[in-house]
Amino acid sequence: MVKHTATSVVTIERFIIEQEKLHPEATGELSGLLYDLALAAKMIANKVRSAGLADILGATDLENVQGETQQKLDVLANEIIVKAVDHGGRLCAMASEEEPDIIEIPENFRCGKYCLLFDPLDGSSNIDVNVPVGTIFSVVRKITRGSRGEMEDMLQPGRRQVAAGYVIYGSSTMLVYTTGQGAHGFTLDPSLGEFLLSHPNIRTPDVGRYLSVNDSYHSQWEPPVQNLMNYYRGQDGNRQPMNTRYVGSLVADFHRNLLGGGLFAYPANRRNKHGKLRLLYEASPLSFIVEQAGGAATDGIQRILDVQPTELHQRTPLFIGSKNDVDAALAMLGAQHKSGDSLAPVGSVGA
Ligand code: AHG
Ligand code: MN
Ligand code: MN
Repeated sequence: MVKHTATSVVTIERFIIEQEKLHPEATGELSGLLYDLALAAKMIANKVRSAGLADILGATDLENVQGETQQKLDVLANEIIVKAVDHGGRLCAMASEEEPDIIEIPENFRCGKYCLLFDPLDGSSNIDVNVPVGTIFSVVRKITRGSRGEMEDMLQPGRRQVAAGYVIYGSSTMLVYTTGQGAHGFTLDPSLGEFLLSHPNIRTPDVGRYLSVNDSYHSQWEPPVQNLMNYYRGQDGNRQPMNTRYVGSLVADFHRNLLGGGLFAYPANRRNKHGKLRLLYEASPLSFIVEQAGGAATDGIQRILDVQPTELHQRTPLFIGSKNDVDAALAMLGAQHKSGDSLAPVGSVGA
């Protein structure tokens, strides 16, 4: 694993300011939004770490637009983020995994030029058993006229992102983000309440050590996907076998692979024919980060960052991580599509 060491003590606030200086035209609005998100991350970390003590474990009797039962912490994390960013004047609208429609900026607050899309709590099913969970966010610039954000502003391909990040509430709380100038990791020092730079310029090894996939769907995958997983496991002799590491929290699986090299796969299957993960606030932001770290991400047919969204909560198959391993997925899945095969291409992105 590439050793990521930081020598001097740099807070995330200072790092954001340094990064802003790389953009002479910057107004400071994006920096302000990133501060607010770092604050929200600290607040969510506090709740996650004491969830077992404050009767905020477990499920609500509510269901979200995904048809999933909302965990109390899903709802709480969602509220924390909205309240941390809705009044700063940097956003014209938001979208959350936990809310069916666009979240408007309240009438009495000024609108800004950015849109925020986020998964407030990723890996919810793991909360009650103390397995790492996370938060994922994506920032795009408003492209429509007028002050208030519209659906068209939200439905932009991932390559239009101006920032993306995630927080992992693990053995330590880390925030990893990019604004297109590399991917950088910050670790929360609980005694200071500060995120300190711990992983500058993260680089993902080209060849992965770990394969993160839920094998229980094996019989539901199309044959090319089954063959791809056999390839990753070295069963066809064309590759050093990868170790399996599957936490069931995308952020936890992604983070380990980002630092140590690996491939996370959530293919389409007969039950989830467009895959399970959401394009706009799971696949796109993590794809921006992984590309900034030298990795790659595809839906099996094209680069995730080139997919043109059509719906706020649309799902996509996802193969993300070490570049060579993502290239193998494209070669073994995309090739079927390129051969002009009449079947719907495996891993095809659904509307
Ligand atoms: P979320 O909790 O935000 O709905 O995300 C859960 C996702 C993702 O974190 C994880 O990789 C995946 O669900 C696990 O799905 P399976 O249990 O089907 O493997
Ligand atoms: Mn999620
Ligand atoms: Mn979630």
